[in-house]
Amino acid sequence: MGSRDRSPLHTMPFTGSGLRNMAFYAHQLRRGFSSSAVRNVVIKHIMVIGGGQMGAGIAQVAASTGHTVTLVDTSEDILKKSVKGIEGSLRRVVKKKFADKPEAGEEFIQKVMQNVAISTDADSAVQTSDLVLEAIVENLKIKQDLFGRLDKLAAAHTIFASNTSSLPITDIASSTHRLDRFGGLHFFNPVPMMKLVEVIRTSATSQETFDSLLNFSKALGKTPVSCKDTPGFIVNRLLVPYMMEALRLYERGDGSKEDIDIAMKLGAGYPMGPFELSDYVGLDTMKFIIDGWSAADPENPIFAPSELLNKLVAEGKYGKKTGEGFYKYK
Ligand SMILES: NC(=O)c1ccc[n+]([C@@H]2O[C@H](COP(=O)([O-])OP(=O)(O)OC[C@H]3O[C@@H](n4cnc5c(N)ncnc54)[C@H](O)[C@@H]3O)[C@@H](O)[C@H]2O)c1
Repeated sequence: MGSRDRSPLHTMPFTGSGLRNMAFYAHQLRRGFSSSAVRNVVIKHIMVIGGGQMGAGIAQVAASTGHTVTLVDTSEDILKKSVKGIEGSLRRVVKKKFADKPEAGEEFIQKVMQNVAISTDADSAVQTSDLVLEAIVENLKIKQDLFGRLDKLAAAHTIFASNTSSLPITDIASSTHRLDRFGGLHFFNPVPMMKLVEVIRTSATSQETFDSLLNFSKALGKTPVSCKDTPGFIVNRLLVPYMMEALRLYERGDGSKEDIDIAMKLGAGYPMGPFELSDYVGLDTMKFIIDGWSAADPENPIFAPSELLNKLVAEGKYGKKTGEGFYKYK
């Protein structure tokens, strides 16, 4: 974030034509906030930090369901790409949903994009946010620094949430003084398609905060499940060891990766085999997760590292995103 003008007007709402939408700010500034924490916060105005795969998807879904969103990242170039991605994704939705009424589809896109503002200045945008939802790089120190700084600037009622896949929410929250207003909201990729949200409560998350996060997830049209702050929450705690076990089976020469993928698709009814799924998730991400768990619990055999995974990551073969992982992609 640069040392730019820190007025809330620094944020730029995006319409289809990229024009500034002053009404967006007028509405936010008119609202005013009480200085005491509000119980059962109804989340309407959100700041999503990180305009990558997950943040852009979350912003799209929130804006499509009538929330105003300020999407924050480190540069305007990144944010322009995020907005382009959101528009492209909305066009795909509209093509199906409004197949017979292209004009209504165009109107829908314009309306949704009016709900999205972009900014490189989280410190200003936080002041008008009911919820700060973080989807930045998976690095504990960077997440802690961000939340620690925003904690001093946010309104008392503002709820903080992280979309982390593998870090303890309790550790991220420890840099703030709002442990009762801190939780996890774990979305799945691609966010507009995947119905699930894991709502994570730490031992300090208040019932009001938990209820607000649950209701917010429902307002997004998602199906929330509740989970304690344990490694991998529900889905990844089951999925990552499964993918690692498939890798070990292949490393031992018990089956080819193609056969293992076919077996799990046709025998277990999974939409992707474990190697296809690993390439989709990203082998770097998988390594990061398993290394973290293994460091915390080195004796646990299901968290044991894999030589093959380490080798592929060292070679820069991260899966679909780099064009090669277990398989090659054009
Ligand atoms: N990719 C997935 O399948 C997936 C699924 C669930 C959760 N997550 C979690 O979501 C988070 C983001 O993952 P992603 O795949 O979207 O990553 P990504 O690399 O696509 O995007 C991260 C974005 O954050 C930005 N960023 C980094 N530091 C920042 C800062 N200090 N302030 C503002 N912006 C910053 C980067 O510029 C980038 O645009 C991670 O915590 C990850 O564990 C990822």
